[in-house]
Amino acid sequence: MPAPHSRLLWRDVTIFDGQQELPAPMAVLVENGHIAKLCRTGALTAADTDDARDMGCGGVITPGLVDCHTHLVFGGNRADEFALRLEGAGYAEIAQAGGGILSTVRATRAASEDELLAATLPRLTALVADGVTTVEIKSGYGLTVADELKMLRVARRLGQAQHGSLPVRIVTTLLGAHALPPEYSDDKDGYIRLVCDEMIPAAAAEGLADAVDVFCEGIAFSPAQCERVFDAAARHGLRVKAHAEQLSNLGGAALAARHGALSADHIEYLDEAGVHAMAEAGTVATLLPGAYLTLRETQLPPVEALRRHGVPIAIATDANPGSSPLFMPTLMLNLACSLFRLTPREALAGMTANGARALGLADTGRIAEGLRADLCVWDVARPTELAYAVQPGRLRQRVFNGEITHD
Ligand code: NIG
Ligand code: FE
Repeated sequence: MPAPHSRLLWRDVTIFDGQQELPAPMAVLVENGHIAKLCRTGALTAADTDDARDMGCGGVITPGLVDCHTHLVFGGNRADEFALRLEGAGYAEIAQAGGGILSTVRATRAASEDELLAATLPRLTALVADGVTTVEIKSGYGLTVADELKMLRVARRLGQAQHGSLPVRIVTTLLGAHALPPEYSDDKDGYIRLVCDEMIPAAAAEGLADAVDVFCEGIAFSPAQCERVFDAAARHGLRVKAHAEQLSNLGGAALAARHGALSADHIEYLDEAGVHAMAEAGTVATLLPGAYLTLRETQLPPVEALRRHGVPIAIATDANPGSSPLFMPTLMLNLACSLFRLTPREALAGMTANGARALGLADTGRIAEGLRADLCVWDVARPTELAYAVQPGRLRQRVFNGEITHD
């Protein structure tokens, strides 16, 4: 790996700035961890090029990818459940029989913090190798105060202790209201009380959660229960998100929007009123084509309505052991187009600018002067190619916080 250099210069590149393509010949100058200049190559001055390390010409530069919805920390795997579903068993049916999320809960509870860290590292490495510079990681497979905090600590450690060897920004989300643990099988409200009165305060006190998520669904929690979680999050100064309208339309996305949610995710069953509520609140619609594919869902998310109402669309892997055991963000660009008919431009914006917005981050996910230099340099001629072909090996350079981390 080359020695860190304070000024890095790319010339004659095509830029995808997070929203649109700026055709070659463009230039990007990175200095002190930030994007110091973005201009036509011909507009570079001697002061720009003096003492700058020449990082090469050609190719496409995008913001570092932002994977804004993952469940990367978990114990075990669900290969057996995958096989059962192929034989016809339903996702909800398996969950109701105590499998699904709860089987991962058993394996995650049984694992130590170090074991979870070791299990997660290769998955995170796969995301990083595919261009991710910011990743959100949820808890939700612990479902006790101690086990949820354990998961969040693992997520935090992945972003800190490994710094340098795994250069990636981790954003953590407490998803205590993911499934009902067996200890509370007759007392959903009691479990929600635990989430609100103990889990959220503990995670907030230790600074372990950047946001709070819920699973609003028949097999999980009702809108009224989710609302109690949102209120508790607000009392602790935490923004909220929701898994909503994944299997049915309960109005979870609109509820989340009314609580100022950063995003509502999945949303295949979202109706026009829900889209309208999200538009009003500026809530991002995070589409998860990996879960749609894996669960062989047929209800498409309301992409046309989202466009009409101007709701920003993010795309994420939803990387998890059950509904989306897919750890390849660039595959999601393709699936978002092939399955949801997003344009390649929309898909790329979904994994850059809008992904960052879904995490409440204003300093990454876009290429503009003054922002953090989190960048990917790709061996392709046009940004569209990134969504068109599913082809590992095209990431030429990866820049995290202004430093080359892959060359
Ligand atoms: O985003 N919808 C609920 N939660 C996850 C699935 C987690 C799992 O199946 O383990 C999701 O699809
Ligand atoms: Fe999820």
